[in-house]
Amino acid sequence: MTTFTEETRERAREIIARYPADRSRSALLPLLHLVQSEEGYVSPAGVEFCAEVLGLNKAQVGAVATFYTMYKRKPTGDYLVSVCTNTMCNVLGGQEVYDTLAEHLGVGHDETTADGRITLEHAECLAACDYGPVMTVNYDFFDNVDPQGALGVVEELRAGGRPMPTRGARLCTLKEMAVQLAGFADERDGAVGDGGPGEPTLRGLRLAEQHGISVPGFDPNTPIRSKAEADKAAAEAKARAEAAKPAPAAEPAKPAAATGSTAPDVKAPDDKSPQVRTAETRQPDARTAVPDAPGTKVPTDGTPPAPRDAQAAESAGAAANPPAGDGKPAGDEAGAQQRNLKEAEAGAGANGAGPAVASETGVQK
Ligand code: FES
Repeated sequence: MTTFTEETRERAREIIARYPADRSRSALLPLLHLVQSEEGYVSPAGVEFCAEVLGLNKAQVGAVATFYTMYKRKPTGDYLVSVCTNTMCNVLGGQEVYDTLAEHLGVGHDETTADGRITLEHAECLAACDYGPVMTVNYDFFDNVDPQGALGVVEELRAGGRPMPTRGARLCTLKEMAVQLAGFADERDGAVGDGGPGEPTLRGLRLAEQHGISVPGFDPNTPIRSKAEADKAAAEAKARAEAAKPAPAAEPAKPAAATGSTAPDVKAPDDKSPQVRTAETRQPDARTAVPDAPGTKVPTDGTPPAPRDAQAAESAGAAANPPAGDGKPAGDEAGAQQRNLKEAEAGAGANGAGPAVASETGVQK
């Protein structure tokens, strides 16, 4: 089992110290990136480490680690190549890019090349649809890629190079990226200064400036309240909202009944037993129209169906609809279905109605 280095432990303490003492479990997401930065994935030892330093149990940590796709559950290559195959990119050729890479590298989704350099995955929307099709390498973007361009990138990676992404910082390994995702700065010279956001990304900002739209001021140094303070503030806000609610209007008095009583109008109780009600439902009156009885046509022009003798209709239906040999309900008998279909088509041709004119069992000729 991995024993995490003192550097990792020190970073873990630093991450936890960013959160109020009674909210240390909020540090779980960056801590999972941190353990991934040492092992290349979140191993059982990594789960145990996070649980131990946060006072959680392993099931709680595991539930989080398995929920997010950025936490890898098995050793991952130096470079994670994610190809967006979601709708927009797919329409623009994303699947072709993915298929080309998969064939060239000889790996499928979430698999790593034998040299341990590249892990390929298809990704859902990478939030860069305006540059589709896109792929990322360790979460840095390569915009408007085509199969040949994507092949060039992976070949350069395998040869030990670090191709420049379209925008953002220079490429680093997945473990190095995990350190950044845990909340630590990229210390490489000029890493932050590399590249810049593309014009499509800035389009919203430009429009906001043009139209004088801005967000309300936000002070990044606003202190994070402790849970107790936040709960107290929420309770006070709730109490203020309750106090501000208008009192409910009194219900208008109902006119007194003929007896002169002012007692509320209540519905008469249902004095029929459940058994009686069930029996009534199963055996409607013989003169009652039974539109869904076997062999009954349901008119589509809105006229009520002619009353039929329910029992006679049922007998006729049963006789014309013998049980299917395969034990399925009689209505599933193939011949009945075909007749049903023909009948529906004939009905549609005759009166413009759709297949809904066919009876459910479809045995009436
Ligand atoms: S669909 Fe590919 S980035 Fe949105």
